[in-house]
Amino acid sequence: MDNTFEGRLLIGATGSAAVATLPMYLAALRTVLRGPITVLMTHTAATFLPAHTAGLFADRVVTGADPATWPADNHATLAAGHDLTVILPASAHTLSTVAVGAAPNMLATTVLAATHPVAFFPVMTAEMWAKAAVQRNVARLREDGYHVYDPASGPRYDVAAGAFVESPQPPPPPRFLEIVRELMG
Ligand SMILES: Cc1cc2nc3c(=O)[nH]c(=O)nc-3n(C[C@H](O)[C@H](O)[C@H](O)COP(=O)(O)O)c2cc1C
Repeated sequence: MDNTFEGRLLIGATGSAAVATLPMYLAALRTVLRGPITVLMTHTAATFLPAHTAGLFADRVVTGADPATWPADNHATLAAGHDLTVILPASAHTLSTVAVGAAPNMLATTVLAATHPVAFFPVMTAEMWAKAAVQRNVARLREDGYHVYDPASGPRYDVAAGAFVESPQPPPPPRFLEIVRELMG
């Protein structure tokens, strides 16, 4: 049975240390997605995972750091050139930024410019995820029509704590692929 599907996917990567696992998700996508994958990294994401490493698994990586790239890769071209944006991992900072409609970087501006579906996969500590402010932002994003996927809880190596902790984490790659397939329609 052919379980592949078509679509142009934009992955927004933000500054959770979990961004180090992004190549695993990109490799999994390659098994089912027929279409280009662009990774748009925030400044912090690119400090955790070098853009050239993400580039080994994606068709294109955009950081917006070099103004010489802006004519070709800007919020308008990135929004128009893709069918779906998923933010993986989504930091508390980026959730709050999009919830208030701010556009301080290329990723948030692209989300603001997008007319296609946008989905968030938050990753942060359990304490951060439980905060009223974070939950308010998640509720606001859903009200505004964004898809926000509650993180599953499981053991995760927390770089800040230097230990394994029970912590919110992104869905495992098979579940992630299912969600991308559904959202691509
Ligand atoms: C070691 C380390 C790990 C971090 N992990 C997370 C995380 O998992 N989730 C989160 O929301 N923020 C995390 N942060 C904080 C973000 O990196 C910070 O809020 C940053 O401004 C996010 O920017 P961005 O959303 O533009 O990428 C971490 C910071 C450090 C120093």
